[in-house]
Amino acid sequence: MIRQEAEKCLLTILVLVVTGMFPAYKGRIFLKCYLWTKIQRDFCARCRMRWKPLRKDGLVDIPTLKIGDLTARLPIIQGGMGVGISMANLAAAVANCGGVGVISGVEIGFYRPDYQINKKRANLEGLLEQIEKARALSPGKILGVNIMVAINNFEETVRTAVQAGIDIIFSGAGLPLNLPALVQESNVKLGPIISSPRAAALICKHWEKKHGRVPDVLVLEGPQAGGHLGFSTEELEHPEDYALERLLPEVLAAVKPYDERHGRRIPVVAAGGLWDGADIARMLRLGAAGVQMATRFITTEECDASPGFKAEHLRAKKEDIGIIKSPVGMPGRAIKNAYLERVAVGEGSPVKCAYNCLQPCVPSKSPYCIADALIHAQKGELDKGFAFAGANAWRAERITTVKEVMEELERELKSALNLA
Ligand SMILES: Cc1cc2nc3c(=O)[nH]c(=O)nc-3n(C[C@H](O)[C@H](O)[C@H](O)COP(=O)(O)O)c2cc1C
Repeated sequence: MIRQEAEKCLLTILVLVVTGMFPAYKGRIFLKCYLWTKIQRDFCARCRMRWKPLRKDGLVDIPTLKIGDLTARLPIIQGGMGVGISMANLAAAVANCGGVGVISGVEIGFYRPDYQINKKRANLEGLLEQIEKARALSPGKILGVNIMVAINNFEETVRTAVQAGIDIIFSGAGLPLNLPALVQESNVKLGPIISSPRAAALICKHWEKKHGRVPDVLVLEGPQAGGHLGFSTEELEHPEDYALERLLPEVLAAVKPYDERHGRRIPVVAAGGLWDGADIARMLRLGAAGVQMATRFITTEECDASPGFKAEHLRAKKEDIGIIKSPVGMPGRAIKNAYLERVAVGEGSPVKCAYNCLQPCVPSKSPYCIADALIHAQKGELDKGFAFAGANAWRAERITTVKEVMEELERELKSALNLA
């Protein structure tokens, strides 16, 4: 504003000086100056209007994350973490800071007194309880639940989450082909978790044909993620071949025909080993609608794990984080410890299981019970369990708060995107 006024003053002085020098041409000079300033003003206004969208990446502010009719202020989903690592407290804290908070649905009733008596009922009651608690802690904010396809009462768990009024169901560890049929007549959004363009195309094709819809969001989980992974052990020996930078454009290309047919873009969210704002910016520039981060939220006060579990993450050095073979038949990324070393030499605790929580697990052949190991770890009993972790877990330096993490990510993201 001040600059514009100064420019006007200078121009007036110039016109007065010139007309003073050539009094005979006063009228013509005034007319020419008037026309010239008008043209210049119009031109500058156009440039100003066009300036921001003219950026190469088209970004003028941190993009919001739109999932159907839901909009998260920040394009950050907190990944679901079981058993009991992301429950109501963590999910609500992330949601309150403008992200999407996700409760993990696997063995969620583990903390209830009736868990040992009736696990199935305890898990359903636990899920209801956690969703209600998260809602009360973050009214009006966006909450999801992570329900793995591999759990043995998948359908009932999905129906319970819908009944409890959850906003989004994220579902991986298998292809959630039948998921839309379980949420009919509800407005719940569906977010399959995939690790390849093939899985993305398969789900879209099947859902479109059988259920007349496509996913509301897709989470692309790469090989640097924590927990169970959608890659074979051999594939994980060459993680660079499956880097998000490679997979993301392929997934976007695989879903493009569905975007066009359904007249809206299916947001694809990138996950796995993402730690700071620069990582988020990199994914956004590649066409991701947002990111899913999990490990980054473990070392926060609000994370639902015990201080012992968080301390295990703080203890981890880069070389401690590696791939393990889970009894579920999938590889997983975890922090190596003495318990896992004992398991590796066949000294795991014998499995007594009447429940078979994860379908691919064959208790009689399992070297240990993964649910037991994860529940012990959640409680900080790391002599009887181990902690899942993303490849960047070693970067955590201290216990912080979700607010601090989200503010830092927002600051870093703005700076990485060159936004004011
Ligand atoms: C401790 C832990 C537990 C996890 N549990 C689950 C789970 O129960 N279901 C699931 O789909 N993903 C699970 N994940 C994967 C995360 O949701 C997320 O997609 C992934 O870890 C992202 O990578 P990052 O941790 O490097 O950010 C888990 C990850 C961690 C670290």
